[in-house]
Amino acid sequence: MKSKIINVSFNNNFENSSYQIFIGTGILSNCDKILGKFLKNKKVILIHDTFFSLEKGGNKNFINFVEAIKKSTMNVKLISISGGDKTKNIFELNRVLEKSLSYEIDRDSLIIAFGGGVIGDIAGFASSVLLRGINYIQIPTTLLSQVDSSVGGKTGINSRKGKNLIGSFHQPIAVIADIDIMDSLPKREFLAGLVEVIKYGLIKDKSFFDYLEENYKEILNYNQLKLKKIISKSCEIKSEIIKNDEKENGQRAILNLGHTFGHAIESFGKYDGTIIHGEAVSIGICLAFKLSLKMGFCDQSETERVINFFEKLKLPTSFKHIKNFSITASKILEKFKYDKKNRNNQLTFILNKKIGESFIKNDMDIDILTKFLNEEI
Ligand code: GLY
Repeated sequence: MKSKIINVSFNNNFENSSYQIFIGTGILSNCDKILGKFLKNKKVILIHDTFFSLEKGGNKNFINFVEAIKKSTMNVKLISISGGDKTKNIFELNRVLEKSLSYEIDRDSLIIAFGGGVIGDIAGFASSVLLRGINYIQIPTTLLSQVDSSVGGKTGINSRKGKNLIGSFHQPIAVIADIDIMDSLPKREFLAGLVEVIKYGLIKDKSFFDYLEENYKEILNYNQLKLKKIISKSCEIKSEIIKNDEKENGQRAILNLGHTFGHAIESFGKYDGTIIHGEAVSIGICLAFKLSLKMGFCDQSETERVINFFEKLKLPTSFKHIKNFSITASKILEKFKYDKKNRNNQLTFILNKKIGESFIKNDMDIDILTKFLNEEI
């Protein structure tokens, strides 16, 4: 299958950091053709999910990838990180930083992140601060990281106060999304990634949402052509949105549909795997549509259509799925205070006028929100 290449570029980026996303099958085993020019004789720190550890017998895609990069450089050091949001903390970041420095990196050295969103976020953040910034390449291995976290340069770790509150914008120099790697992905992770795919249809492209509704069965069966299509479409929509707003001073925020609720819900779960990011965002998107309906922005049939689709996919859609988190309206409002979209002490939410049209709602009325939460919890 021929790879699809998507260009990511920024209209206001002084460093001119445009890059390409390669999407297809069999790319990892042949990546010397794509990555050779970046790697040539450089020192590479390959930060990967422990899941792929060579000591554990490895994974064929990872082994092929390591062999392929060795065609361009023999100077490769490996650092493994266990995936899962519990790892995304300052202690793990420090371990990665110290270990990278112990390999005597210089400013020409390169980091490669091989794993899901957690690996990409930590490795990307480490790259942004090591020696005041070195280049990195993203090799996302989950659906979620292929369609979202590997693209756009958001890097970071979680704080006790909430998700992704410590981080930087640091663009990768290339992204490779190889669909073959998806065969090692548990179904639960795949479904959670699909939530971010659906999100793109909901925020910007109704016909893409229609397509997902019509084709979801083949997508759930890992049909490679359909996967390539939905990953490409997601990355195209994302790159179109971020091109004029690299650092989220405006329109990029709509990519956060469902994430204000989602991040708060995740932090109640203490990142112990009871609920994973995409599942929390699934609840968050359904709540965002219900709130849009309640505030008169969106009509009932559209809201029901969205919730029905998530239900059909067996994804969680309301607080009733997380009863044991003992969430209350006041506790969740406290979490919202730390949302990065807030400005001047006012809460900002992403709401919808209809499927395919999200907008930024600044200055959210706390009374409406409290009443809404009390009805939903
Ligand atoms: N994940 C949302 C963004 O990259 O802006």
